[in-house]
Amino acid sequence: MPLSGRRILLGVSGGIAAYKSAYLARRLIEAGAEVRVVMTDAATEFLGTATLAGITGHPVTTDFSVTEDSVSPHTDLARWADLIVVAPATTATIARLAVGLSDDVLVATVTASTQPLLIAPAMHTEMWEYAATQRNIGQLAADGARIVGPASGDLAGGDVGSGRMEEPDLIVDAVVAALSDSLSGVSVLVTAGGTREPIDPVRYIGNRSSGKMGHAIANEAAARGAKVTVVTTSSIPLDPRIEAVSVETAQQMAEAVATVAPDVAVMAAAVADFRPARVADGKLARTEGPPDLTLEPNPDILQSVAERQVRPYLVGFAAESGSLERAVDKAKRKGVDLLVANDVSKPGSGFSTDTNEVTIIEADGKTEPWPLLSKAEVAARLWDLIESRLPPPS
Ligand SMILES: Cc1cc2nc3c(=O)[nH]c(=O)nc-3n(C[C@H](O)[C@H](O)[C@H](O)COP(=O)(O)O)c2cc1C
Repeated sequence: MPLSGRRILLGVSGGIAAYKSAYLARRLIEAGAEVRVVMTDAATEFLGTATLAGITGHPVTTDFSVTEDSVSPHTDLARWADLIVVAPATTATIARLAVGLSDDVLVATVTASTQPLLIAPAMHTEMWEYAATQRNIGQLAADGARIVGPASGDLAGGDVGSGRMEEPDLIVDAVVAALSDSLSGVSVLVTAGGTREPIDPVRYIGNRSSGKMGHAIANEAAARGAKVTVVTTSSIPLDPRIEAVSVETAQQMAEAVATVAPDVAVMAAAVADFRPARVADGKLARTEGPPDLTLEPNPDILQSVAERQVRPYLVGFAAESGSLERAVDKAKRKGVDLLVANDVSKPGSGFSTDTNEVTIIEADGKTEPWPLLSKAEVAARLWDLIESRLPPPS
């Protein structure tokens, strides 16, 4: 069983999805874990402590009360746990976690712990998209927490959208992944974001890539114990264990990539094929008339890695709109081991979204479509696949 002997602390905060945490506790136990539960006050309005105590076989902690077993429940629980998973995580609990406001026993326990932290947000779409919630989640990810979901789908009150708690089975998978060092000893290079090719000091030719997919892939690799270098144009927070190299243009990205010799390279950046042949020294003025935008080719970074003598396991990305034909051709032509193709014209797929619907293309052209998933889930599945292809550690 994947979680045999593991001690998981389940933190439950006060959202409708709290009813699913009973099933999550059960699935964690079925995976071999010993589970204890800490609940916020609000959570007890949604789910009785007796349910979770009955499932886990342990009393549920809801406050700082001294018991026969503990005079300091938060520090004792923090020391006991191998991992803490907060599911569901409400807007309020996420905010308190982000600033370390330990005025309830759940947040106090997290702040007293040095173990991996998983957060499964659950809330209405507007609450999820609220600027402060996004800031807080970004901060928690930057501080090393793993964010699982949220998924898109039916929400309480008949709404549909992003904010639904990730399915318990997928949260169990994330717990297993967080506790496994399956990529320990493996070096990984990820490229992320869209390049910007200057026209003059203030203008550039760019694309809509946000870097979310590449950063999710890098974070997942780091969480699995890999030594990760990211060459990126994006400022989206990264796991602090990652070495990040910031670049802007394709040429800078090519130069940075050339200095890294990884075991696995995942080239998720959207690299401009062409750049302006001449970059103006000063800002071009309207009065000068339309500028001459003659373009010249950029280095083909994917190709250059594919042609290395010592070649990493190589994963390329292709953004297409419509047919997969070009992506299949690219997989064969570029000599990659895997190509992740996404149809950027589909809703919820491609640039800037939190979700992605990709098709995996093998070197021989075989294709496997994956369903619409959060980018974190695409990253987890992609690493599961890559790991299954890597030679066993010597
Ligand atoms: C019926 C109902 C459903 C709620 N569902 C959610 C939810 O899904 N997500 C959320 O962030 N807050 C939700 N709330 C609001 C939280 O319960 C409220 O912010 C509470 O203070 C959260 O406290 P906690 O984070 O300490 O558990 C809901 C409130 C009610 C009354």
